[in-house]
Amino acid sequence: MSQHHLNLGRTEFGNSSHAGTLISMEEALLLLGEWVTNEKLQLHMKQVAALMKAWAIEKEGADPMTARAWELAGLLHDADWEKYPESHCKMIIEELERRHIDPAVIHCIASHGPKYFGVEPESKMDKMIYVFDELSGLIHASALVRPTGYEGMDIKSVLKKMKSASFAAQVNREDISDAISRIDQSLEEIIRFILDHQKQVY
Ligand SMILES: [Fe+2]
Repeated sequence: MSQHHLNLGRTEFGNSSHAGTLISMEEALLLLGEWVTNEKLQLHMKQVAALMKAWAIEKEGADPMTARAWELAGLLHDADWEKYPESHCKMIIEELERRHIDPAVIHCIASHGPKYFGVEPESKMDKMIYVFDELSGLIHASALVRPTGYEGMDIKSVLKKMKSASFAAQVNREDISDAISRIDQSLEEIIRFILDHQKQVY
């Protein structure tokens, strides 16, 4: 979701000796509050965070710490977008490196737009943030134009919105297909998962 494309020029992030080091959700929300005033952008990150956490627990059988790593990546992946649009991704990565955060979290954030940042998703966590990022936005935009919001929205109506290029035109459909092609689950399964988990977050 960016018109500025900054290739990060590197594919190694953080320090492996910091594996397992995370900041608390309170601290992450504080950082978000300092860097992001746009409530829509904050909501987008909170929605992706909720999806990442739910997926980790329900589909990957993640332990609480791993689930928090997934959640943290979702919550901070666009944290520098508003303040530093020209160096989106670079700034939040450097901030998390300064805070000695688990390199898996940093790599996940760095790979959420492979075409833009030049970092390929490797882990399942990397692949899922890429999957959720644009689709979450498209589904939220769909909910906003429906009189009943998320209530009663089905997979078919989401697919229809996806095919309509003028709807939420900033959502990159190619990125969605590319992201889905990298995982074992189908687009329909992912849409179902988002519909089931995203409506609680607003
Ligand atoms: Fe995003």
